[in-house]
Amino acid sequence: MSMPGPLQLESEILRLKKEKNAVILAHFYQESEIQDLADFVGDSLQLSVAAKNTDADVICFCGVHFMAETAKILNPEKTVIVPDLSAGCSLADGCPADDFEAFLKNYPDHTVVSYINCSAEVKALSDIICTSSNAAKIIKALGPDEKIVFAPDRHLGRYVSKESGRDDIVLWQGSCIVHETFSEKKLIELMVRHPEAKVIAHPECEESILRHAHCIASTTGLLNYVVDSDASSFIVATEAGILHKMSQAAPDKLLIPAPPEDESCACNLCPFMRLNTMEKLYTCLRDLSPQVDVPEAIRARALLPIERMLEMSR
Ligand code: 13P
Ligand code: SF4
Repeated sequence: MSMPGPLQLESEILRLKKEKNAVILAHFYQESEIQDLADFVGDSLQLSVAAKNTDADVICFCGVHFMAETAKILNPEKTVIVPDLSAGCSLADGCPADDFEAFLKNYPDHTVVSYINCSAEVKALSDIICTSSNAAKIIKALGPDEKIVFAPDRHLGRYVSKESGRDDIVLWQGSCIVHETFSEKKLIELMVRHPEAKVIAHPECEESILRHAHCIASTTGLLNYVVDSDASSFIVATEAGILHKMSQAAPDKLLIPAPPEDESCACNLCPFMRLNTMEKLYTCLRDLSPQVDVPEAIRARALLPIERMLEMSR
C-alpha cells in the first residue's frame, strides 16, 4: 500500500482517526507535527488520566511503550496502538522485573513506590506508582515512619528524598540517558551569558543541574512556569521537544535549550520518543497495529498501584 504524500499525511491521519473512533494522545517529547494533530498533549500523569477518561474505541499513544502500556492497563477492553512498538525508555529498560523482585526481597517491610517509567511487570511488584508531578506529594503522604523503596530513577528519587526531608529512602540506581547528558559547566557558561534567564529543569536531571534550577517540575509544570513567570527568558533542562509547546504558549519568551556535554550529538532528544513519526502514526491507525497488550494476571496487579496514584493525585 502506498504512503500519502507529506501534504496528505495529516488529513489522512485525521480521517482514519474519525473512521476508527480513535483518540491520539501525545507526550511533549514527540515531534512537533505529531503534537499539533494530537487530541491531547500532556505529561505522564495527564496522559494517564486522559487514557482513563476517554470514550474512544482506540487509543493511539504517541509516546513510549510504558505510557501506552499504562493506557492498556487502565483500559483492557480498548485497542491501544503505538506508532513504534520498540519505543522504550532507559529507565524502564534499566529495571528488569526479575532483578527488581530479587532486590525487593532485601526490603520486605518497605512500601514500594515506582516511577511510572517502568514496565507493567515492575508496576505489578509495586504498591504505588508516581510521576514526576506527584512523586514528592505521594512520598510526603506516606508519613515519616513508612519505610520506602523508590524505583527506578535515582535522580528523581534523590530529589523527592530531599523534598520530603527523608534520607532513608532506598533507591534503585536507574537513570534517564537524556537527562543525564546535560553539562553543568556548559549550563554555567549559558547562565553567565544570560544572567536574567530562569533555569528550569526536569527532576530526572542530575543534582549538578538541579542545584541551579529556579523551577524543578514535570514537563507540564515547566510549561506552566514559563507561561506564568514574569521572566522573559529561560534555560530549559529537559528533552527539547517541550520547546514546541512552550514557544506556542509563550511566543514572546526566549527559550534556550540546556546544552548536552557533547553538543554535536542531539542527545537532548529522546531517541525512543523520536522513533515515532507521522508516517508510522498513519500506518498504525490504518492497520490498528502494532498493538500493546498486557497479560491479564500482570495487568490486574499493575492496576492497583496506578489507581492508588490516581486517587492520591486528586
Ligand atoms: P513527565 O511526566 O514530566 O512528562 O516525564 C516523562 C518523561 O519521560 C520524562 O523523561
Ligand atoms: Fe525515558 Fe528519558 Fe526518554 Fe523520558 S526522556 S522516555 S525517561 S529515556
